[in-house]
Amino acid sequence: MQALWYTLGMRLLGIHNPFNAPVYYEETVTSTMEVSRLLEREGSPHGTVIAADFQEEGRGRIRGRKWEMEKGRALAFTVLLRFTAIPTALGLRAGLASAFAIEDFAPALSGRILIKWPNDILIPPALKLAGILAEAQDNCVHIGIGVNVSQKQIPGFLLDKASSISLASGAEYNSADRFILMEKILFRLRCEIEAADWRERLEARLYKKGGQICFAKGAADSGDTVTGVLAGIGPEGELLIIPNGETAPLSFTAGEIYQASG
Ligand code: BTN
Repeated sequence: MQALWYTLGMRLLGIHNPFNAPVYYEETVTSTMEVSRLLEREGSPHGTVIAADFQEEGRGRIRGRKWEMEKGRALAFTVLLRFTAIPTALGLRAGLASAFAIEDFAPALSGRILIKWPNDILIPPALKLAGILAEAQDNCVHIGIGVNVSQKQIPGFLLDKASSISLASGAEYNSADRFILMEKILFRLRCEIEAADWRERLEARLYKKGGQICFAKGAADSGDTVTGVLAGIGPEGELLIIPNGETAPLSFTAGEIYQASG
C-alpha cells in the first residue's frame, strides 16, 4: 500500500526537523489541521510536520473564524505531537516558541514580540503577526501555526489589527525564507516543550501584563465580561485577572481579551 503522503501528492521538504520526523509540503490543502489528523491516523511519528502554501479553509481558534493567507508570503503548518501524558499549556508554549523564533529570524524585532493570551503573537501596539491553534485528541496534539511573513499590504479591514514580519522589520524575504522561519520555530518548540520555566518567560512577554483589560468569558460578543488588571498566567496556562474593586485574582481557561487600556 502507498503511504498517505505519496497518495495525496505531498512532497518531502529537505529541512532540518529537530523532532527527527518527516516534514511534508503540499501546495494547496483544506487546512493543515485536517491533513495532520490524517497523518496521525496513518501512524506518522511524533514531530511530523505538514506545511502548505495555501489553505482553502484555514481555521482560526475561534469557531467560524477563518485564517486567511496570501500565497507565497505566509507560513502555515501543523506539527503532530504524540505524548504518553500531554504537557500543560502546549498552545501557550508554542506561542512562546514562535515569538522567540520570529526574533531569531528577524533580529530587528528582537525583544519586541508580545504574546496576547491565549494565542496571538503581536508586535506593538497590538498588530497580529501570527496565531496558534492547538487541538488535542487522545494522546496527540496538533499544533497549527500561521505567520504573516512577507506580506507588503494588509487588507483594509485588518489595517489596525495585523502586520507582517516584513512590514514590522523592514526586511525583504522570498518564499523559501518561510521555511527557514519554520525550522527556527520547530527548534524553539522542541525546547519549550521540555522547559520547566515557560511561565516566567511567557509572563515577561505577556501583552498587557499589569495593565487594565476587558475580558469576555467565551466569545468576544458573549456579553459576559470582566474588567480588571491582568495579573499573570497560572500553572496550567490559565489567565489571571484581578477584577476592579477586588484583591484576589480569578482564573479563566477560555475567553478573549477584547479591549485593553492603561
Ligand atoms: C488564530 O489566531 O485564531 C489561530 C490561527 C491558526 C492558523 C494556523 S495556519 C496552520 C494551521 N491550519 C489551520 O487551518 N489553522 C492553523
